[in-house]
Amino acid sequence: MARVFSGVQPTGNIHLGNYLGALKQFVELQEDNECIYCIVDEHAITVPQDPKELREHILDVAALYLAIGIDPKKSIVFVQSQVSGHAELGWVLCCQSYTGELSRMTQFKDKSKNKESAGTGLFTYPVLMAADILLYDTDIVPVGNDQKQHIELCRDIAQRINNKYKKTFVVPEGRFLKAGARVMALDDPTKKMSKSAENVHSRVSLLDDENKIKKSIMKATTDSEGVIRYDVENKPGVSNLMSIYSALSGMSFEDIEKKYEGCGYGDFKKDLVQITIDALKPIKERYEEIRHSDYLIEVLKDGARRADEIAQKTMARVRENFGLGIK
Ligand code: AMP
Ligand code: TRP
Repeated sequence: MARVFSGVQPTGNIHLGNYLGALKQFVELQEDNECIYCIVDEHAITVPQDPKELREHILDVAALYLAIGIDPKKSIVFVQSQVSGHAELGWVLCCQSYTGELSRMTQFKDKSKNKESAGTGLFTYPVLMAADILLYDTDIVPVGNDQKQHIELCRDIAQRINNKYKKTFVVPEGRFLKAGARVMALDDPTKKMSKSAENVHSRVSLLDDENKIKKSIMKATTDSEGVIRYDVENKPGVSNLMSIYSALSGMSFEDIEKKYEGCGYGDFKKDLVQITIDALKPIKERYEEIRHSDYLIEVLKDGARRADEIAQKTMARVRENFGLGIK
């Protein structure tokens, strides 16, 4: 059995991009792997957070994890800051990474753009992410395409340390979903769907009500050709809607094109609204059941205990190989 690790930030509403790009894979992977799923609250504080809201968002995301079908009997689900090894290993890895490689990270460049000064945490964010992964001897990291560069960095750091010291870490591999791996904003298909975009109709969040889903999809940017055809370059808006359609229904692009031959965008969008509502309904119902339950807290506490057990072993090996502390 391979060990799988992934993390999602507890910042705001999880949207279709997160779901199709990452979360849906989490559920599939737990069938024949040993999976660890983490809510990365320490990553969240690399940008300003309201403490009360952060706490709520942690539980929101945890409840959503379980609602989409992550089973705590099969997988470990926990909150990053409950296991001290993340921050601890993060420091050790910082001492093995270079400012040059970190300044090449596109996410850092994007997030610090137009700011007078950028936080150090934002800069070392990918190193903490590497610590998350390496702490659990991870084989596979399922993530969206936008995390490719961070996974490469993690591999580089792991290999660097394995070469320099005794073999300390498993070198992990990223697993990137193709169809629907990069869901674009509904109002602007040149940008990826994001939690932070100002226009709420740029995204469909997993907990949106039916009216909101309908409005966002019906408003989505298309083009003036009036033909349902998958062509990312020339028809980015329509292609994005087709990816969502395909990912939620299991239909291929070809079959979608055939089904809507001679139809306008209106009919296609109406069907997509229904498909989306149907896909999200059971998730929402389960979420409402567990969001404020003791069960949720128990799952997270138990998850942290199990994660910490693995983390402690890795940290002992790291201290030994680096000569930290005393015997
Ligand atoms: P984040 O919202 O940055 O915490 O991302 C959580 C997970 O969802 C990560 O694995 C991302 O790669 C993935 N993700 C975020 N936005 C998108 C998007 N628009 N399309 C596909 N995957 C995404
Ligand atoms: N950086 C990831 C994102 O923004 C979240 C994350 C943090 C993560 N640690 C991780 C993903 C470890 C996979 C593995 O989406």
